[in-house]
Amino acid sequence: MSEPTSRPATDPITGRPAPGDAARVPAPADPRRHPAAPPPPAAGEPLILAEGLRKVFTVRRRAGLVRRTRTEVRAVEDVGFRVARGEMVGYIGPNGAGKSTTIKMLTGILTPTAGTLRVAGVEPARHRTRLARRIGVVFGQRTTLWWDLPLRDSYALARRIYRVEPARFRRNLDRCVELLGLAELLPVPVRQLSLGQRMRADIAAALLHDPEVLYLDEPTIGLDVVSKATVRSFLRELNEEQGTTVLLTTHDLGDIEQLCRRVIVIDHGRIVHDGDLSRLHGAEGGERTLVVDLERELPPIDVPGARTVRVEGPRQWLAFPATERAAPLVAAIARDHPLLDLSIREPDIEQVIARMYAARRGPGGH
Ligand SMILES: Nc1ncnc2c1ncn2[C@@H]1O[C@H](COP(=O)(O)OP(=O)(O)OP(=O)(O)O)[C@@H](O)[C@H]1O
Ligand SMILES: [Mg+2]
Repeated sequence: MSEPTSRPATDPITGRPAPGDAARVPAPADPRRHPAAPPPPAAGEPLILAEGLRKVFTVRRRAGLVRRTRTEVRAVEDVGFRVARGEMVGYIGPNGAGKSTTIKMLTGILTPTAGTLRVAGVEPARHRTRLARRIGVVFGQRTTLWWDLPLRDSYALARRIYRVEPARFRRNLDRCVELLGLAELLPVPVRQLSLGQRMRADIAAALLHDPEVLYLDEPTIGLDVVSKATVRSFLRELNEEQGTTVLLTTHDLGDIEQLCRRVIVIDHGRIVHDGDLSRLHGAEGGERTLVVDLERELPPIDVPGARTVRVEGPRQWLAFPATERAAPLVAAIARDHPLLDLSIREPDIEQVIARMYAARRGPGGH
């Protein structure tokens, strides 16, 4: 199970009507009611600060005909991390790890059971509406747009809610429309958009008010390769040129490889890795592969520090630990073998992560 299936009547962050309720729910919660500027973050405080963060859900389950039992689901346990302004961080983990729960706490939709959480100097759950003007959020699984309205009108409403000055709104919208290819979609009601079109439209909606931080929860889910490339290059540019801080959750490790230097891995509610993506390559027994072309067919090369995993005619594949350097290996092979050419393949990130998740599940894990 991942996302709860029930839909709130209003969008949990902005208070806007949820899809399908556009006609019924007027008067969204309005950030204008909290015009006071939030307190500035303490000097040196990161843009996002989480310490000892926990979220426990209490669920009632039917046990027999009448009896119900209460069980606790520990979705997030002792999570701590800091994100500096301008960083782009991947937040990954297997299904049910606690990623969406963390993001919901970061937006203020969910109140932490325990721990410290500050975003732009503000405690999200306590100042949710105030914070809404400084953050943007995209849930790939759910739209924040008005289902029945043409896209253009959805944006116009968002502008009013966030009180975006017209010139700035126009500039931001034009930019998104151009870079995300939305021009032809502006007159189309949101309900008629395809998944990939809707996702691009949602990303634009999250950015019209120039948020300092953008949370993306699976923004490339179900996108074709071209749309994925569009979204990725858009996000890269947003981060590099506008300096927007981005926290990205995805199961598509291509997103991470192309966008994030730093990756935080969460599993069973706990952080199990936080660091450079390149370091993850070496974690959990990651291997690189040296592909050598010899002058002729030879028996498998026997060299210390590597093992030959495949031989095809004069070509051989040698696996070695990703934490080791390739140069001594190449020198050793060249010394004793007629070497013509070589290349090095980086470990497949999918395999590295799969091994990491599997190792933590252990034998007979679930
Ligand atoms: N509202 C809720 N009530 C009860 N349990 C919940 C609720 N929301 C999430 N959970 C549980 O908390 C755990 C973490 O869920 P979460 O949605 O954060 O996972 P996730 O990492 O986003 O997974 P996925 O990759 O599948 O989206 C899961 O065990 C889930 O069943
Ligand atoms: Mg999720």
